[in-house]
Amino acid sequence: MNAFLREIPKAELHLHLEGTLEPELMFAIAQRNGISLPFASIEAAKNAYQFTDLQSFLDIYYAGTNALQTERDFYELTKAYLEKAVRQNLRHVEIFFDPQTHTDRGIEFKTVLNGIDRALTDAKTEFGISSNLILCFLRHLSADAAMETLEQAISYRDKIVAVGLDSSELGHPPKKFKTVFDRARREGFLTVAHAGEEGPSEYIWQALDLLKVSRIDHGVRCLEDEKLVYRLRRDRIPLTVCPLSNIKLRVFESIEQHNLKQLLDRGLCVTVNSDDPAYFGGYVLENFEAVQTRLNLSRADIVQLAKNSFIASFLPDDIQQTYLEEIDAFVASVSEIA
Ligand code: ADE
Ligand code: ZN
Repeated sequence: MNAFLREIPKAELHLHLEGTLEPELMFAIAQRNGISLPFASIEAAKNAYQFTDLQSFLDIYYAGTNALQTERDFYELTKAYLEKAVRQNLRHVEIFFDPQTHTDRGIEFKTVLNGIDRALTDAKTEFGISSNLILCFLRHLSADAAMETLEQAISYRDKIVAVGLDSSELGHPPKKFKTVFDRARREGFLTVAHAGEEGPSEYIWQALDLLKVSRIDHGVRCLEDEKLVYRLRRDRIPLTVCPLSNIKLRVFESIEQHNLKQLLDRGLCVTVNSDDPAYFGGYVLENFEAVQTRLNLSRADIVQLAKNSFIASFLPDDIQQTYLEEIDAFVASVSEIA
């Protein structure tokens, strides 16, 4: 089954670029830039990755991002992730980045964007993997700060497909950002938002009704509200679920307790993603392996999850269709062998 999971064509739709910063690269970049990190060694950093909730993770995640200073740093970070993605047969990725984490430290928006964009372009040429960029506003900061960030993004409109909302969920409901998202949509950006990870199902309603999102990031708490499940199913709103993340941040006690299979069985468009793979113990393939083995997913479930990853993407319909056909051809070819 591992070979099946690795080889089936997949897309990843919930991935924070800053969350792909492996400790080895963090230390190499920090040393090059003369930055001191809050960890004594690579081993110490890895040992510090014990989280009790979202905030305890975010504190460490933001500390690690301080290493990143130059366009080259953002290039190397992005390229390293894409190389791993290609090895797991990801064909397309939609990547979140958090510009405020960097601009608030005096790094220019264009330094971040140009480094990332150059890596995405090179990876498309070298490996054939396609990508979209999603700018996330940090929800623990003000709506005014998000609006300033949006204004900076407008001149890069052709390089950013959507805006999203991440960071500390509790106490920062989607409605805080309604005006920013209204403006983003007028400027032609699609919208997504983290909702229902730690926050209540009410935040998912707000993301849908006020921010007019195309997808919900996480959304696992939707099962607490029957009307919400109906709405998500009726409007085919995808959920970008991150199983290993949910365990590390104690949204669920164990993979066996995770509700991914229930979400699938309720007819929701569920996708499997890694969130912050350098911190949560695995990339997309490891997330697939965890849910396949520990939730007893069938081959049909896996095929559905792989198809959903393209259906839920912001790729044009004809390209999505090509990938769906490729998945069918792949499944037929392995069935012949089996
Ligand atoms: N930023 C990076 N990972 C995140 C997550 N899982 N939830 C909210 N914000 C994040
Ligand atoms: Zn996330």
